[in-house]
Amino acid sequence: MSTATDTSKIEIKGINRIFPTRNRGKGDGPREFVALKDVNLKVSKGEFVAIVGPSGCGKSTLLDILAGLAKPTSGDILIDGKKITGPALDRGIVLQGYALFPWRTVRQNVEFGLEIKKTPKAERKEISNRFISLVGLDGFADHFPHELSGGMKQRVAIARALAYDPEVLLMDEPFAAVDAQTRETMQDELLRIWEETGKTIVFVTHSIEEAVFLADRVVVLGTNPGSVKDVLDIDLPRPRHNSDIRSSAEFGWVRHKVWELLQNREVKAEGPHGYGPSVAEAISSSAEL
Ligand SMILES: Nc1ncnc2c1ncn2[C@@H]1O[C@H](COP(=O)(O)OP(=O)(O)OP(=O)(O)O)[C@@H](O)[C@H]1O
Ligand SMILES: [Mg+2]
Repeated sequence: MSTATDTSKIEIKGINRIFPTRNRGKGDGPREFVALKDVNLKVSKGEFVAIVGPSGCGKSTLLDILAGLAKPTSGDILIDGKKITGPALDRGIVLQGYALFPWRTVRQNVEFGLEIKKTPKAERKEISNRFISLVGLDGFADHFPHELSGGMKQRVAIARALAYDPEVLLMDEPFAAVDAQTRETMQDELLRIWEETGKTIVFVTHSIEEAVFLADRVVVLGTNPGSVKDVLDIDLPRPRHNSDIRSSAEFGWVRHKVWELLQNREVKAEGPHGYGPSVAEAISSSAEL
C-alpha cells in the first residue's frame, strides 16, 4: 500500500492537455482551453488511488491519457518506468459510460482481452464464468448489451476489465449507474479483489464517501485549469470491506476533510475527538459532488 518509498507503478509527469476551442480565429475569446495543467502524480505498485474533483475538472481526460486512448499536449506517463504510447493489456479500463461491444454477448465481451492474449478457449470460458459470476450476472452470459440495464452493463465492463488480469485498473465512475445497495456490494468486491491480487488502481468518483472507503490516497483535482490541488492519505484501518467502517466517527471525519479540501477550506488539524467538526457536521457533508 502507499508509502513514499515504494517503487512507482505509474508516474504522471507534467501532463498538460489543451483543447482548441470552437471560436478559433473568431473574436477575442480564448482560442484554447487548458483542461489539465502540469499534473504530476506517482502511484505506487499495489496502491489504490481515488481521484475526486468537480465536474469538468479533467478527471476523465486524465484517465483517457493514462489508458493511452488520448495523448497529452505535453508531459509523459510512465508505467514500470516505461513511457506509454497507447492502450495495452497491462491496463484494464472501465470508462465513464460502459463502452461494451454491442455485437458481442456478455461472455464474448468479458472474453475480449483473453482472445487478444490468445488464451485457450476452455480456459477463457472458465475465466469468463468466474468473472460473470463475480459481478452477479450468472444466467446472463448469452445476453447482448441491449438486453441489460445500465448497471448490468457497467458490471460487464468491470468483469471484462478484470478477466484478463491487468496489473493496473483504471476506473472512471464505474459504479455511478448502479443502485446504492449494489454499489456497496461492488465496492466490497473490488476491495476484496484488490487485496487478493495486489493490483494498482486509479479510481475516479464523484462520491467522497466512495473515495474514502476505497482508497489509500485521495487526490483532489481543482478546476480551471484541472490540476492537483491536494493529496490526502486515508489512514483508516483495513480490511474495510464487509465492515461497518462507513458509520464510524473516524470515517465521518476523513470524509469531512476531503469535503473541506474540495470546498477550498483550510483543513483543521484535529481528528474526530479534537476540535474538528462534529460527527453530525461531517455526516451532513457526505453529499456527492
Ligand atoms: N474533446 C474535447 N474537446 C474540447 N474540450 C474537451 C474535450 N474533452 C473534454 N473537454 C473539456 O475538458 C474539461 C474536462 O473534461 P472531463 O471530461 O475530463 O471532465 P471530468 O472531470 O471527467 O467531468 P465529469 O465529472 O463531469 O465526468 C471539460 O471542460 C470539457 O468540456
Ligand atoms: Mg468524467
